[in-house]
Amino acid sequence: MSALAINATAPIDYTEMEQVSAHLVFPELFEPSTVMLKRRKHRHPDCIASNPMYIPESENAKLALVWLMAPHQLLSLGLQGHTGTGKTELALYLADKLNLPTYIVKVHARMNPQDLEGSYVLDVENNQTVTRKEYGPAAKAYINGGILLLDEFDKASGELTSAMHLLVEGKPWPLEMFKETITKHPQCFVIGTANTYGTGHDERYITSNQMDQAFLSRFMWIETVYPNVIQESKILEKFAPRLPLHLRNDIIKLANAFRDAALGVNRDGDIEDPIQCIFSTRVVVAWAYYIQAFGVFRTLRKSLDSVFLKSVSPEDAEIVNDIVSKVFGDDIDKTLKDLLAKK
Ligand SMILES: Nc1ncnc2c1ncn2[C@@H]1O[C@H](COP(=O)(O)OP(=O)(O)O)[C@@H](O)[C@H]1O
Ligand SMILES: [Mg+2]
Repeated sequence: MSALAINATAPIDYTEMEQVSAHLVFPELFEPSTVMLKRRKHRHPDCIASNPMYIPESENAKLALVWLMAPHQLLSLGLQGHTGTGKTELALYLADKLNLPTYIVKVHARMNPQDLEGSYVLDVENNQTVTRKEYGPAAKAYINGGILLLDEFDKASGELTSAMHLLVEGKPWPLEMFKETITKHPQCFVIGTANTYGTGHDERYITSNQMDQAFLSRFMWIETVYPNVIQESKILEKFAPRLPLHLRNDIIKLANAFRDAALGVNRDGDIEDPIQCIFSTRVVVAWAYYIQAFGVFRTLRKSLDSVFLKSVSPEDAEIVNDIVSKVFGDDIDKTLKDLLAKK
């Protein structure tokens, strides 16, 4: 056998690390400089490409990197913030750039511990039915290393939270299903995202559950917030460069007027009679997309109706319509064609 053939079949050591310029990996976060960071040299098949339209918020992304680069994760990383503030995107962005395989667990109230562990599945091998062990995403991350993203983990039931205790602490984890105990890979990073700090009873996030302090104290928390005007303008410019600037600016103005009415001008919830609906960056981006997709002969109201207004509760409807009129005036009933003609 030739040397080449031997090399071609040699298994790849996915845990091998390389030193790379921080600017090369994260041009949005680091100026060209001598700052270096470590990342996995080879891309594992379980890596997930991140959203090319995502623009990270510098401070939070750097704090999360500090956590990822530390020799030991004394705590898991908790990303807390309102819906659509980019929690999931931040985790996926960092994982992708660092070539870390990513295992997403979309947590919900009816999920049980076995969903984290895995189960036996039936398979056919040589025309014979066999039983195969299939690890769940959390167990895979624990065994192989990579990012374990416990997405929206404040939706977990009490039973599931107890099962996650060991995981977020990095302790040996007994898998009931397989009667085996797995230990945490040194390159396994556990990140949880949540709308609340586990307070439960949140009017806006009614499916969020109360979580015990012991669990919550096992996280290092980073709070994600809606982007400021400059940041959101950059996001929209990247996402919808063909929409006229005045329209992009008005979309952002509207988003912030809604956030003022929902969360207060300081976004700290200090507001009387807040509206419950939230105009997140998710909606901003979706609206810009559908304005274009609906075509030049449809009005702005038509697409706004579809991406947002239809989901507003009757209690919020009047205030919401007032805010739309205040920001857009007559333009909301104009077609994209008319708005493109506007200087
Ligand atoms: N910083 C950002 N840059 C670009 N798009 C963003 C950003 N933050 C949020 N978005 C948009 O909003 C959507 C929702 O973000 P996501 O991370 O899923 O929010 P969360 O997990 O906080 O609810 C994304 O899919 C993306 O379209
Ligand atoms: Mg999310």
